[in-house]
Amino acid sequence: MLLALGGGVTGDLVGFVAASLHRGIPLIHLPTSIIAQVDSSIGGKVGINHPRGKNLLGNFHQASAVFIHPQFLQTLPEIEFINGMAEVIKYAVTLDATLWDLLEAEHGQILDRKPDILEQIIRRSVELKIQVVEKDEKESEYRSLLNFGHTVGHAIEQLSQYQMKHGFAVAAGMLVAGVLSHQLMGYPASHLKRLRKTLNLFKLDDVKISKYALIDIWETIQTDKKARRKQPRFTLLDSNGQPLLFQAVSREALRNAVDVC
Ligand SMILES: NC(=O)c1ccc[n+]([C@@H]2O[C@H](COP(=O)([O-])OP(=O)(O)OC[C@H]3O[C@@H](n4cnc5c(N)ncnc54)[C@H](O)[C@@H]3O)[C@@H](O)[C@H]2O)c1
Repeated sequence: MLLALGGGVTGDLVGFVAASLHRGIPLIHLPTSIIAQVDSSIGGKVGINHPRGKNLLGNFHQASAVFIHPQFLQTLPEIEFINGMAEVIKYAVTLDATLWDLLEAEHGQILDRKPDILEQIIRRSVELKIQVVEKDEKESEYRSLLNFGHTVGHAIEQLSQYQMKHGFAVAAGMLVAGVLSHQLMGYPASHLKRLRKTLNLFKLDDVKISKYALIDIWETIQTDKKARRKQPRFTLLDSNGQPLLFQAVSREALRNAVDVC
């Protein structure tokens, strides 16, 4: 049995070792960062990065148990806390309007790490992730809705040689996906404005995507595991804010979106 005590990197690495040793030994997660508590410890994805791609070496290996204690978050550096909030925002924007309202209304309490509100948002995020994973554990289809913001997000992370934190990259990716959704799928301007505002409330709107050449982003997303025949596929949102999976996006459309991010 292996115990993974730490953030998402520890959980992914220890999980990968647990999945590989004797073709799988039991694993228990004790996640200590917000990303690990709301996301990486739930759902069984384990893996490590490779210079050729994020999580290129990976597996599915469900933990026997996950013990989450929000108190761990009190010692998390500020930047790591904000970083983790990107995944919570992703759940809210794609799956739960009530959670989105709560994030907006209580952003001050959340950033002050008041235990009660932390417990509420962690509990709700875990419930949402479990609901998705239970429907599609191996990501044949539905689970890919959790990739909202991750297509461009992973590309930026890789282009920064993993110097950029996952949540900040995902936040920039969510904005690109939001703009694409607006430009291509009729996602309302009011929702897009709200997404920008929420990222701003949680200090996640700092990434200058224009720093990266579009050609580099395009080439990187073509090698994404989810691309098909070099055609990048995005999770977008429709006119009702509902997720649309595996949406093909042209280079021109991506340029138009990045230009207004
Ligand atoms: N497997 C999945 O489904 C999944 C989902 C989302 C993200 N991830 C992966 O998770 C990783 C990001 O996770 P992360 O943000 O936890 O990064 P991390 O594990 O690097 O932790 C961030 C930093 O915080 C420190 N830390 C962790 N807990 C702490 C605590 N309680 N007090 C003080 N410091 C603490 C760590 O030592 C580290 O320096 C990425 O590699 C991402 O790809 C995996």
